[in-house]
Amino acid sequence: MSTTTTPGQPFFAWRQGQLHAEDLPVADLARRYGTPLFVYSKASMLAALAAYQRGFAGRKSKICYAMKANSSLGVLQVFAQAGCGFDIVSGGELERVLAIGGKAADVIFSGVGKTRVEMARALEAGIGCFNVESESELEVLAEVAGAHGCTAPVSIRVNPNVDPKTHPYISTGLKGNKFGVAHERTLAAYRRAADLRGLRVVGIDCHIGSQITDSSPYLDAMDRVLDLVDAIEAAGIPLQHIDFGGGLGIDYQGVQPPAADQLWAQLLRKLDARGYGDRELMIEPGRSLVGNAGVCLTEVLYLKPGEQKNFCIVDAAMNDLPRPAMYEAYHAILPVAPRDAAEARYDVVGPVCESGDWLGRNRDLAVQPGDLLAVMSAGAYCMSMASNYNTRPRPAEVLVDGGHAHLIREREQPADLMRGERLVG
Ligand code: LLP
Repeated sequence: MSTTTTPGQPFFAWRQGQLHAEDLPVADLARRYGTPLFVYSKASMLAALAAYQRGFAGRKSKICYAMKANSSLGVLQVFAQAGCGFDIVSGGELERVLAIGGKAADVIFSGVGKTRVEMARALEAGIGCFNVESESELEVLAEVAGAHGCTAPVSIRVNPNVDPKTHPYISTGLKGNKFGVAHERTLAAYRRAADLRGLRVVGIDCHIGSQITDSSPYLDAMDRVLDLVDAIEAAGIPLQHIDFGGGLGIDYQGVQPPAADQLWAQLLRKLDARGYGDRELMIEPGRSLVGNAGVCLTEVLYLKPGEQKNFCIVDAAMNDLPRPAMYEAYHAILPVAPRDAAEARYDVVGPVCESGDWLGRNRDLAVQPGDLLAVMSAGAYCMSMASNYNTRPRPAEVLVDGGHAHLIREREQPADLMRGERLVG
């Protein structure tokens, strides 16, 4: 029998009529660990990383995995072992890096709302750089560093005001967004940073949005950032590194973003042309490293035909896979073992008591209760955004490496969800 794959997920293939993750039939994993179940492919993560590594061959560079995309410890280990640093956005994420024995020096700390407590902990741990997002944050960071008798390495996140042409909720580099320091304020902010005793300027950074499928916003942002580098260095403030953030999209539905190495070939040409080719480069990719390295397996519970719509009710829901409900995001939903039968059109929905609890709309499926479906491209921003709404324990996660399955997270139990709660009397 033939092997088929979906365009973005070559490590998930149907062989002998059964979906496999690398060498393992995922139905076996579902039987062993239950559903809903996230299944990841280690080889897929490493292949995605390799595209960036190829792109940066021969350059001074650091890839800091944006762990918000998937912060499970087993996933972080894969990237740490492959030589990545981490982009974090909270004290909690820092604790995860430390928990896997990751190097604090390879951590950069982004985010508009760092608290004093988070800053102090990050300074104590010795992180590599704070990506500062406002002028008031500079003042607070300098104060916290002063109180700890140290200096904080800083980069200022520039808002380059370019349109990444993506969903408005995940576009971050436009004037109306809360992120970064406005382009026209950046030089003044660098002057202030250079004057503050608790700070040491080490770089500049930008991040314009997520699920970007075109190289032009990156090229525009790079020009805008390099204009600032010219001005900042002309003001006598040297910058060791330039960080271009993350944001490269993945193929969810037939829209193919540029490959990481091809995108970077274009960007490096520009960087060279502008005389910054020998600078240390940093990037913060999240989705493009893990998004297509995962699927979520779910069992069909009920089929509910209706006058206007047919519903396929599955055991995964918006709490496990929030992207469709939050962004009307599309994830392919495919049978693990396709049936040779007539298809019907369904909305695939979960058990949560919300009309927004859908995983896919108008999907043509030949399914029966008890069948397994795979929600594709579910490696990024699914488990990391999962909640316990409706007191639903979060799924288990399995990392497949060739023929081995590592359970990297046990399924939560209701008791886990009530831990820390107290009765009133
Ligand atoms: N760096 C910074 C400062 C970020 O804010 C982000 C993502 C990244 C890097 C990584 O971006 P990526 O390479 O993953 O696109 N929950 C949304 C995506 C939110 C992205 C937030 N920031 C979704 O499910 O589409």
